[in-house]
Amino acid sequence: MKLSSRIIKIDRTRIFFGKDSLAEIQKFRRSVHLDKGKVFILVDTVTHELCLPVLLKQVSQLAENQILIIPDGEEAKTLETANRLWKDLMTAHAGRDALLITLGGGVVTDLGGFVAAGYMRGIPCIHIPTTLLGQVDASIGGKTGINLDSVKNLVGFFYSPTAIFIDPRFLDTLPEAQLRSGLAEIIKSVLVGNAGLWNKLKKHPVVEMFRTPNDSVIWQHLIVGAITFKSQIIKEDFIEKKRRATLNFGHTIGHAIESFSHLKGYRPLLHGEAVAIGMICAAYLSSVKTGLPKKDLEEISTYIHSGFDLFPFQSDDQAALIELMTHDKKNRDGRVRFTLISAPGSPRINISCEPAEITDALNYYLQSS
Ligand SMILES: NC(=O)c1ccc[n+]([C@@H]2O[C@H](COP(=O)([O-])OP(=O)(O)OC[C@H]3O[C@@H](n4cnc5c(N)ncnc54)[C@H](O)[C@@H]3O)[C@@H](O)[C@H]2O)c1
Repeated sequence: MKLSSRIIKIDRTRIFFGKDSLAEIQKFRRSVHLDKGKVFILVDTVTHELCLPVLLKQVSQLAENQILIIPDGEEAKTLETANRLWKDLMTAHAGRDALLITLGGGVVTDLGGFVAAGYMRGIPCIHIPTTLLGQVDASIGGKTGINLDSVKNLVGFFYSPTAIFIDPRFLDTLPEAQLRSGLAEIIKSVLVGNAGLWNKLKKHPVVEMFRTPNDSVIWQHLIVGAITFKSQIIKEDFIEKKRRATLNFGHTIGHAIESFSHLKGYRPLLHGEAVAIGMICAAYLSSVKTGLPKKDLEEISTYIHSGFDLFPFQSDDQAALIELMTHDKKNRDGRVRFTLISAPGSPRINISCEPAEITDALNYYLQSS
């Protein structure tokens, strides 16, 4: 399989992967008749400085377009920012033939997709994700959204981009913590979807991965594997009726831990860091509920602990964590539901677990470090 440049298709979205992918943008725009209207490029303050020059060096014709800049970070993902961007588009007389190109991490692609979906009932958008999390997860699948007060992604639309251009060279400037956060989503996708790739990945400890160049074969296998896996699931289940739930492995406990780390004055965890903890707990629950062999549980736990710092919550925090889990959108009848695995690559969705079982899983996480 030639990985260095690949095109994956999910219904109406084309995904271009590889170092040469950006060079395809103009040709692609012409091929889908998106080359006549105004073009706007949405960046945050960081991607404006670090990623826009990379894009414009590859595609100099884009330099003449209007750049829309938002502050970097989750705080920008609000209705107020969206409102400001809609007004910018209106002031610039953007018509229905306008094109919005997003260049940034999940915040920029989620917010940009939301803005594109709402403006004039939908203008086309193209994502160019620049974080690992954005490249393997956030830009793919058509979920757009903003946060309302402190509730993440409460308001949003399903809205597919016309194309996604994924160039691993953007990762050269990404801080290690952000790479680690993205790697957690890759580990998840491998654990639920690709036993063969898990067997390869577990031979490369997390710290070793950070010393491995982004364009190495193992990174390309992982990134393309995660993109392909998510694309297949989206094709079958765009609006999350069933199979898309497999992508939630590690997320039920992960989301609770992520929120808790912000509330309780612990070091606030990045999404992927919290998902990594959630995956150890979910692997433990899998060994109890869905027959995951002990050997796999230990391998998963050892692999994740090797690269992710321990989050040292106390035993009297566990009730608050379980309480946070009861607010998960996927629960039914007040019961906390999990995506588990019966073996690497074999997911099982909607498994209800009792609070005592969840407590055991949290204890397993602390003791297995
Ligand atoms: N839509 C989905 O399906 C989906 C899935 C997962 C996550 N998300 C969303 O994605 C967001 C998180 O995405 P994220 O982790 O990419 O965060 P982010 O967009 O905040 O990016 C993280 C930081 O990295 C910076 N950055 C981006 N590219 C860089 C580069 N190449 N070099 C250096 N710095 C760079 C950003 O400016 C930011 O400071 C959350 O809002 C989450 O809700 C959405």
